Amino acid sequence: MIDLSCKYLGLQLKNPIIVGSSGLTSSVANLKTIAQKGAGAVVLKSIFEEQIKYETDIMLKAGNPDMASWNETFQTIVNRKESYFEEAYSYITSYAKEHTLSKYLAFITTAKETVDIPVIASINCNTQYNWQYFAKRIQDAGADALELNIYLLPSDFQKSGDENEKVYFDIAKEVKKYITIPVSIKVGFYFSSLARTLLELSETGIEGLTLFNRPYNPDIDIEKLEVNTSNIFSAETEYSHTLRWVALLSGRLKCDIAASTGIHNHETVIKQLLAGADAIHMASALYKQHFDVIPKIITGIESWMKLFRFNKISDFKGLLSQKNVENPAAYERVQFIHLFSGIE
Ligand SMILES: Cc1cc2nc3c(=O)[nH]c(=O)nc-3n(C[C@H](O)[C@H](O)[C@H](O)COP(=O)(O)O)c2cc1C
Repeated sequence: MIDLSCKYLGLQLKNPIIVGSSGLTSSVANLKTIAQKGAGAVVLKSIFEEQIKYETDIMLKAGNPDMASWNETFQTIVNRKESYFEEAYSYITSYAKEHTLSKYLAFITTAKETVDIPVIASINCNTQYNWQYFAKRIQDAGADALELNIYLLPSDFQKSGDENEKVYFDIAKEVKKYITIPVSIKVGFYFSSLARTLLELSETGIEGLTLFNRPYNPDIDIEKLEVNTSNIFSAETEYSHTLRWVALLSGRLKCDIAASTGIHNHETVIKQLLAGADAIHMASALYKQHFDVIPKIITGIESWMKLFRFNKISDFKGLLSQKNVENPAAYERVQFIHLFSGIE
């Protein structure tokens, strides 16, 4: 009997396939399908720091017809006295925050009522902001865990690596102080010392790290001489960067590891598990192949496990992590020397 169940962030999952945070996890109808198709868990579409700030800006523009009720309150406060502006400003910012947050909280509660798989909420943040308050509300709304999607592009010439990295630690420590549900951090790979930083992040008490978020990348249109967007979705060959780091970090961090990016089929799921991932996240494959890819992957893993006489995930998880392979240097090689690549 093949058993795909596993533990991730302390949660019991029926299998390690998690549908990653994306537009696909922003509707109840999709969540139902995701659960029906057999996913082990789902990460909801993130609530974005930028989105909250954007809503605040909109609300600050008086005269918006949708905002009649708060506009009235705003105007009343402003009209009372010039110096009341600050009061009005703070009223609107809290209103905007509350407005965006309450929609998200209601979605979490409905998601929990609708599906019987773990529901992981997600916050996309890159400053300290008020995340501890948001996190607490998200916990109270019933989320099983919280993923913090933090992605700082280190493009500021004035900022050192330490300054950039401090943001991750500050957010992690603040949020951990306020909630008891498991917390994971989804990171990119722009760290001056990736292994060391992720080790230290794993020591902050967080339960997991998701490696790696795939950034929204620019491209250039040489016909229109314009900057535009490159491929929104990953290709199925994009998994190897994550694979290397999962293998290098597995068994060495103080928290779970979820692999993300370029996982499109059962072969790459198996590879990530062999490298030591505790779970995997998928997004692009579901956009490209629809939700039917979930049962296809589950069947593929089961057949492979039968072939190798593995009964449960722990029989092979981490078998080929760097710690466990005969030739650990294989994961650290970065140059195309003829001897190893076979190409002149
Ligand atoms: C259209 C789209 C929307 C996404 N939205 C989010 C999001 O809101 N929060 C988040 O943490 N990741 C988001 N992601 C990133 C995915 O969760 C995932 O980490 C990334 O796409 C790499 O995995 P993949 O190769 O399976 O797509 C989004 C990805 C796509 C393609």
